[in-house]
Amino acid sequence: MSKKKNSVRSRNISPRKEAFDTAWEKFEPLIPEEELPALKACIQFTPDPAIRLNPQKASISDIGKLRERYHWDTEPVAFCPDGYKLKDTHGIAPGQTNEHRCGAFYIQDSASMLPVTLFDRQKILNKPLILDMAASPGGKTTHLSAASRDSGLILANDSSASRITILKKVMKNWGSIHHLITVFPGEFFGQWYPNTFDLVLLDAPCSMQSLVSIASHPMRPISEREENALAQRQLSLLDSALKAVKPGGQVVYSTCTLSPTEDESVIDGILKKYGAQITLLDGQQKLPYPAPGLVSVEGSEPNPSLERTIRLWPHRYQTTGFFAALIQKNDTFGFSEQIEKPFRRSREELRFTKIDPRQDHHPIERMNEIFGFDLTEFAEQRECCFRMRGNELWAVPTVFFDESVDWPPCKSCGMRVAAQTASGWLPDFDWVSLVFDRISQNRYPLDETLAEAWVRGEDLPISLPEHSKGTILFMTDSWNVFIGCGYVSGNRIRNLTK
Ligand SMILES: C[S@@+](CC[C@H](N)C(=O)[O-])C[C@H]1O[C@@H](n2cnc3c(N)ncnc32)[C@H](O)[C@@H]1O
Repeated sequence: MSKKKNSVRSRNISPRKEAFDTAWEKFEPLIPEEELPALKACIQFTPDPAIRLNPQKASISDIGKLRERYHWDTEPVAFCPDGYKLKDTHGIAPGQTNEHRCGAFYIQDSASMLPVTLFDRQKILNKPLILDMAASPGGKTTHLSAASRDSGLILANDSSASRITILKKVMKNWGSIHHLITVFPGEFFGQWYPNTFDLVLLDAPCSMQSLVSIASHPMRPISEREENALAQRQLSLLDSALKAVKPGGQVVYSTCTLSPTEDESVIDGILKKYGAQITLLDGQQKLPYPAPGLVSVEGSEPNPSLERTIRLWPHRYQTTGFFAALIQKNDTFGFSEQIEKPFRRSREELRFTKIDPRQDHHPIERMNEIFGFDLTEFAEQRECCFRMRGNELWAVPTVFFDESVDWPPCKSCGMRVAAQTASGWLPDFDWVSLVFDRISQNRYPLDETLAEAWVRGEDLPISLPEHSKGTILFMTDSWNVFIGCGYVSGNRIRNLTK
């Protein structure tokens, strides 16, 4: 068949179209004949936007309430219990809502909700030590945090220093305490941490040939050489992931490309390398109906077990193109003894210090006054502790201070609670969003007009009695959603979220 006849979209000068046509030409012969019409029809449309709810913020991440408030038409994501496609938003984009500002949900294309759902539920609920090897901007890290109920520890790593700011911001907004953030090539972890993690997620850098271009995954022209180089890197990263996971632990490998070179071929290569030391688990069991991977890929013998991988051709679940595989490690391999790591004193680098109990305006006591609940009790329940970092108070997972583990130097760990300023201790917006359901005092509800002004960053010209001067107020909109802290001064409520 000629290229022209094959192409479902006309060829023109746009690089995205060109990328699409090239990918289509390669992939069309791989698609079962009977599925072609459905696929052709599906890729004419952009998939619905989707959100994944944050179980830590139950009172504002209720899908019923969100539907009622914004009149969204929603449909559950078939393979992710907290995921919802937004069939019709009636003009209210999820990113514009107060719930989104509070981290009540993460906006994520529905295919990207697949990888974390593949991990064994018991393992992920059992305070796991998780490595998210290529984590930025953090969509799947938030999913790992939700699935583990923010227990255990997630080491969220990305090799790109410029993408760490967004990762920190996303994790803070989600309300995750039990994570630390590092910037290293993922290839190092297998050597540094052999047989260490309960679960490893490798959401690998890939060519993004997903057949559907969306803002977060734009298609671009890609050469065969680049694709092969990516496949090499993916194989090294997957090798490192398998070394880093414990025997009995699991690795999920995922990409947002449909290129067999970066998908089934990588899995085939790793199966050949490790044989019975690893098992490719059946991903189809995690899906309502199957979306099997290709059993034969160019240049190698057919491997029927590759059917256990998941290949989301876009029409299968009305998503962008995606691939995922779940692998279990059976044996100890990697290095039998931990090699010396080229770093020291990583805990000290974050400059956490213990709170001096004699400190004036003891921060925990001040926080207890501001919030009206006992922060020490909260810390016990959540297995974290409070530390100072300069003039800031932080909640840090207790496991971070476990001297038997040598963490790599990290960029961040835990979550900021408050900062000391000239006006006294001021709580952090994201921290308040996390604990908001526990706060019953000093809530200040605003009507719709005032709430909009507040969200724009305006102060409110409202005079409160003299004795409330200096009080921190928790402003809410008319649906009882937190929209920022206010500080009562003489004749106005100062907006602290500007
Ligand atoms: C597909 S994106 C990850 C998306 C992320 N998991 C999420 O859900 O938001 C791939 C990431 O891999 C990172 N990366 C590329 N090469 C890497 C390497 N050798 N080691 C670790 N990360 C790498 C890129 O910087 C990029 O952020």
